[in-house]
Amino acid sequence: MKKIIQLHNPQFDKNEIKYINNCIKSGWVTTKGKYVEDLKKRLKSLTGAKFVLPVINGTSALHISLILSKVSKGDEVMVPTITYIASVNAIKYVGANPIFMDTEEDLNISVEKINKFFAEETYLKKGYTHNKRTNKRISAIIVVHTMGNAADIKPLIKTCKKRRIKVIEDAAESLGTVYSKKYFRNKHTGTIGDYGCLSFNGNKIITSAGGGAILINTKKKYLLGNYLCDQAKDDSIYSIHNNIGYNYKLSNIQSALGYAQLKKLKNFLKNKKKIHSNYCRLFENNKNFSMLKPHNFYKSNFWLNVLIIKNNKKKLKNIISNLRKSNIEARPIWKANHLQKPYRQYQKYKIEKAEKITNSYICLPSSPNLTFQEQKKIYKIINMKK
Ligand SMILES: Cc1ncc(COP(=O)(O)O)c(C=O)c1O
Repeated sequence: MKKIIQLHNPQFDKNEIKYINNCIKSGWVTTKGKYVEDLKKRLKSLTGAKFVLPVINGTSALHISLILSKVSKGDEVMVPTITYIASVNAIKYVGANPIFMDTEEDLNISVEKINKFFAEETYLKKGYTHNKRTNKRISAIIVVHTMGNAADIKPLIKTCKKRRIKVIEDAAESLGTVYSKKYFRNKHTGTIGDYGCLSFNGNKIITSAGGGAILINTKKKYLLGNYLCDQAKDDSIYSIHNNIGYNYKLSNIQSALGYAQLKKLKNFLKNKKKIHSNYCRLFENNKNFSMLKPHNFYKSNFWLNVLIIKNNKKKLKNIISNLRKSNIEARPIWKANHLQKPYRQYQKYKIEKAEKITNSYICLPSSPNLTFQEQKKIYKIINMKK
């Protein structure tokens, strides 16, 4: 079979096998065990989060964060239209409705438009922010650190605090992305807002074969989150459940895999930085294309590299199809969520850039073991005439 160059494939070696074997030998395979604690500890020291709650995936991390933020039925939550649909679905899981916001060329939520929206479209009642159009309370905003690039979160934190809007950071793609000292004291993405949500899905910078974690600031919220993720067990012997809980805790086997991966993160980050600079070098001064580059107020994890088509001469569909014909995976940025069937009916605010972005941005293969040879092949195919 011909080798496929994937967008992002997992890299395993001896440690993953050893740790999973240890779980099996010990019998501790489900939600309790050494590796759950090891993973928590390592994530805590890496991110500087006060509390870490491992969960079954990034989507459940978002769901529980919305519950902990007290987002209730009928409330509204602001979310960028350009994100993976999980960020939006989680809003509906708690019975709230999304308000779609625009995205800037750097693929992160438009802070300028958020401020405009607040000024033009909302009013305060008893200290809470309400939407003029629906009179509903806006109780949270989900800020997504897209492709490993950090959002310009600082101006939002102050405004949202004043308006009693909880900030949930969707850091599913940004493990290892850290703000600069000057911008936010070297803080890890996901530790600035009220909650940070990580994903360890198979295509992320580290994987636990499905998994995620919530970064939490207070012990009270951590304990509540832990309780809710464990079926809201008030008494496990007499099976008392005083609330509706969820079966969201990460297993020891998955934690073992995640822990082994996390130990290699530094190495992955190093390789991915190199891959990004190789792409930048290849596309430097190219009249048709450029690479999406990070800002200097953070250090990116370079999760996925994004190619930008600069003019109408090159067609996104042709490029993707040419790459796919050569067994190279590539895809556009997500379709804007306000255009997805379940979400067309919801409010959107001045969305002017999102669609153009979807039509001109392409995610390129970015696995940590991608070779320069392979990058040159990708470059050549992208530059083909058709
Ligand atoms: C931005 C974003 N949010 C949320 C998720 C959901 O994470 P998971 O697939 O682990 O549920 C993902 C990735 O899959 C993502 O890329």
